[in-house]
Amino acid sequence: MKRPRGTRDFLPGEMRKRRWAESVLRDTAERWGYGEVATPTFEEEELFVRRSGEAIVEELYSFEDKGGRRLALRPEFTAPVMRLFSQEMSRSAKPVKIYYFGNAFRYERPQSGRYREFWQFGTEIIGADTPEAAAESVALASTLVRKVGVEDAVLRVGHVGILRGMVSALGLSPGEEREVFRAVDKGDLETMERLCGGTDAGDVLVGLVGRDKMSMEDWRDIGGGLLDEKTVSYFSYLEDVLSLLPALGVRSWKLDPGIARGLDYYTGVVFEIDAPRLGAEKQVCGGGEYELGSLFGTSQVRGVGFALGFDRLLLASAVPEGVVQHGILDVFIAYIGEKGRLAAFEMATTLRENGYRVDIDLLGRNISKALKYASSRGARYVAILGEREVERGVATLRDMQSGEQREISLSSDELKNVLDMPR
Ligand code: HAM
Repeated sequence: MKRPRGTRDFLPGEMRKRRWAESVLRDTAERWGYGEVATPTFEEEELFVRRSGEAIVEELYSFEDKGGRRLALRPEFTAPVMRLFSQEMSRSAKPVKIYYFGNAFRYERPQSGRYREFWQFGTEIIGADTPEAAAESVALASTLVRKVGVEDAVLRVGHVGILRGMVSALGLSPGEEREVFRAVDKGDLETMERLCGGTDAGDVLVGLVGRDKMSMEDWRDIGGGLLDEKTVSYFSYLEDVLSLLPALGVRSWKLDPGIARGLDYYTGVVFEIDAPRLGAEKQVCGGGEYELGSLFGTSQVRGVGFALGFDRLLLASAVPEGVVQHGILDVFIAYIGEKGRLAAFEMATTLRENGYRVDIDLLGRNISKALKYASSRGARYVAILGEREVERGVATLRDMQSGEQREISLSSDELKNVLDMPR
């Protein structure tokens, strides 16, 4: 039997890294004032068909249950979280700030960094449509990426309102507009050129999307002429958001007029974070301002949030050595004879109760084989309990790094602090 395509198994070493990264993300989100929520792994298919963009709907893992209901495994969390908000939290004091961590499912062509089951860590601020909320969201995303050890990440910020304004200035049919958006989303300049090159508005758009470096002034000067007053006001809004970033610890970003975010539910500021070393699947975060409330029968509810691709973050991050190398065992206990066996189990119990990670020889091996096994497990210490030692109330403690050995007392009081290492 094989694993389903696009899924993975995680072994203990990998899980240690994943749990470390998860706890860093959680701690940071909590410190920024977010509370955790969890939603079901599957929802009514309709939730995603109506709420998420076309791209995601094509990738849904959907099915009919035994009661004939159309259900889908969640491809992301924003729609479920908005459903949760409208059902359970719409009366809570605003803004509501929540975070989530869990697996999501998309029927995609698997490749490195792209899976059919993957994990997202995300946050949403619901009920605030201010530059302050948008700035906080961008800054938190960027902080989280840095905290899990991705040093060379590139934050790109844009505004879908401005992009929409520029595309509508092209005077295309709705179908053609959609094609242009798709090409912008992919950064496919050739297709853009074919669809809208040659006209003034088209050349401006292609030029802006294709530019590597740009200042706010340039963007406003080049694109502003095509836009109505309301759309032009988005530039000041975006500027306001960006002006807050340094105070929140964000040192650099790039302006990117071409972020379309698959045109899902986004309405305003949008942002993405790339980890260039990942190559083709380098995007580790996507998010922005959105409006979803009207679709749930509630009044307009605006939000801003993002999701980090947890698996990609781990591929890109330099996990601190200690996290992996520390091993998963502080002490391995080997013993000889019946008396040694009982004393070994008692010693393991005392050490575990005092916070150490302890394993015991479960195969009744001789000491040299037990030592070999302990070393392959990366145990920091091995305690050896021979019959005669146990009679004297002691054990031999071997430091597996230095090879030094010393005698320690088996009395539970003394065992509490016998190991000179953090717990
Ligand atoms: P998204 O851009 O579709 O946005 O996904 C966010 C991140 O999830 C991506 O940047 C990527 O790192 C990761 N990701 C997506 N698909 C896969 C996959 N097949 N394998 C591995 N990683 C993947 C959203 O999901 C929005 N809900 C974000 C959001 C929250 N917007 C507002 N609030």
